[in-house]
Amino acid sequence: AEDTITIPVVVNVIYSNEDQNISDAQIKSQIDVLNKDFSKKNMDIDQIPEEFKEIASNIKVQFDLRQTQRKLSTRNSWGTNDEMKFSSSGGIDVADPTGHLNIWVCNIGSGILGYAQFPGDNPLTDGVVVSPQFFGTTGFVQAPFDKGRTLTHEIGHWLNLRHIWGDGDCNSDDFVSDTPISDRPNNGCPAYPTINCETNDMTMNYMDYVDDACMFMFTEGQKTRMRAVFEADGPRASFVQ
Ligand code: ARG
Ligand code: ZN
Ligand code: CA
Repeated sequence: AEDTITIPVVVNVIYSNEDQNISDAQIKSQIDVLNKDFSKKNMDIDQIPEEFKEIASNIKVQFDLRQTQRKLSTRNSWGTNDEMKFSSSGGIDVADPTGHLNIWVCNIGSGILGYAQFPGDNPLTDGVVVSPQFFGTTGFVQAPFDKGRTLTHEIGHWLNLRHIWGDGDCNSDDFVSDTPISDRPNNGCPAYPTINCETNDMTMNYMDYVDDACMFMFTEGQKTRMRAVFEADGPRASFVQ
């Protein structure tokens, strides 16, 4: 079997009030969720429908918190244009992106939970951004996005996964063969089965848009696509040398 890949993590917290200055315990709760979700040790795998059980995968990627950086700011809303990633625009500069996953925790605003950069793009903006109330499982968290799954989803993107519905109609692909076709994101906590194209949607996939409590699996095909970024010729090869 393949080796476990351990990703060193730097968390960059930018806050304008004490709620947003999340505790070390809240940060640890998020890292714990990631380590469970990416090793198929999450407690909710027993809810995976029979037809998908066999393709639910252990990604064998783990996350090791190395450093937490904090910065007080007068800015309360950051948007999605990467200004939180540069000290020159009031944020925190990326820390060694060839060997670290950088996570910025700051209030994005506009109801956006988080966003990610795909592999192979600018190293200075590499990483993921999450609003503090959707980060971790304890402290300043907000239901129904209080189970740490926003970051599981964003790191899926950071490892090259697309949304499970392929961001389009029944003909658009997520470039993963074992994830069923759909033509839309699912929201809330959908009943099983949910059918939008011809087959049952895998609404419980981390790359759908459902509530945190209702997403609990990646597939074998998603594992192959994610782990490909670490291969010798892949865009994140520097993480495994
Ligand atoms: N909207 C975000 C994105 O597309 C994240 C959605 C996360 N969903 C969740 N249940 N936490 O990247
Ligand atoms: Zn997404
Ligand atoms: Ca697919």
